[in-house]
Amino acid sequence: MASNEFQPLQGMSDIQAPEIYLWRMMEERARAVFTSYGYDELRTPVLEKLSVFQRSLGDTTDVVKKEMYSFKPSKHELAMRPEGTAGTMRHLAGRGEEGLSARVFYIAPMFRYERPQAGRKRQFHQVGVEATGEPNPLADAETIAMQKSLLDAWGLTGSKIQISTRGEPSDRKPVADGLRAALQPHLNDLCADCQRRIDENVLRVIDCKNEGCQTIVDQIPSAIEFMSEASRTYLDQVIQTLETMGVEVTVNPKLIRGLDYYVHTVWEISHSALGAQDALAGGGRYEIALGRKAIPGVGFAIGFERAIMALEACGISGEQFAPVNGVWLVSLGETALVENMKLAAELRAKGIRCGMELETKSMKAQMRKANRSGATKVIIRGDDEIEKGTAIVKNMVEGSQEELNFEEVIRNA
Ligand code: HAM
Repeated sequence: MASNEFQPLQGMSDIQAPEIYLWRMMEERARAVFTSYGYDELRTPVLEKLSVFQRSLGDTTDVVKKEMYSFKPSKHELAMRPEGTAGTMRHLAGRGEEGLSARVFYIAPMFRYERPQAGRKRQFHQVGVEATGEPNPLADAETIAMQKSLLDAWGLTGSKIQISTRGEPSDRKPVADGLRAALQPHLNDLCADCQRRIDENVLRVIDCKNEGCQTIVDQIPSAIEFMSEASRTYLDQVIQTLETMGVEVTVNPKLIRGLDYYVHTVWEISHSALGAQDALAGGGRYEIALGRKAIPGVGFAIGFERAIMALEACGISGEQFAPVNGVWLVSLGETALVENMKLAAELRAKGIRCGMELETKSMKAQMRKANRSGATKVIIRGDDEIEKGTAIVKNMVEGSQEELNFEEVIRNA
């Protein structure tokens, strides 16, 4: 059998100890930060109707066009979620009035059929939030400030927040017309994709990775210059509020974001440790119409895998959050073995990590296991000790050992 028989699918990973302890720390602190801001956790299904994503993210986005895991088991075409906003809005749209002013967060796996590379996976994980309510620069600023508090709570340093605006919905046409007119003289120099994008979705030309396209984009006015005064004032208010709150952001008018639901504020957080895929998080204000009425909201998602790469570059790793090594019980004889199972249950009930061999083995073999477990204390009991009501306690750090009364052993454990 080939050894890759046991590997997960390409672009997907098994997450195991000790890295899993970093995930758990991140999840616990995310829950604490979001809860303090009044957010409730939401768990939506991995599968949704494909139309939920098509209608939310936009038909011409790369995610919907090329990256969906979709299939049609019966009447409806279904898709595995590529991101969390669409399913959340499907859920909130179903909650009527209440869904229009909700604050929810999610921690969940996402699926995109992308070409895997460092920091780009086919199954990845996001921690994200969505807050619905009328557009308000203060809500956008609070969301960004909360995201920054979470990165601080994780111990992440060196990240950069870039911010821009997609303008209000009525800006879409003047922006598209303005950009198209500005790009027209350069049409033949754009890449084949962008020559198509110019009619289909001209904003996608702005964030094209092709160097030639980037040179042209640098020469034309930015999308913001075609927007209304109101849209620019909205962005200024977000930035000023963040400044007052002590959150540093850089304006990048070329920041477009890859999803079509955005209006007004958009932002991305990058980290130098990430290389080519340097965005560790993205967010923005949006309007999503799944029912009759579009629901306005604001939110973000942080990619766990990328955040972990950045945290590791900051010297933070899973080992630091692994459970503290506890106690190993050594049993000499059948009676001691069963008595130790009882003792182990008592210690575990006190929250102590406790291990033991569940079959009769030599003292040497049991001590080898105790060493491998990393336990800081070993409790040894044989028939003699059980009869006397004592146990031998070995301190594995200092190498010392003493015989103690059994009650004392439990008290000191
Ligand atoms: P996004 O920018 O597509 O936004 O994804 C957010 C983050 O998910 C990225 O910054 C990255 O860290 C991570 N990510 C995305 N794709 C991959 C991948 N293939 N492999 C590893 N990590 C990845 C959204 O998903 C929006 N729903 C964010 C949002 C919420 N906007 C408003 N509310």
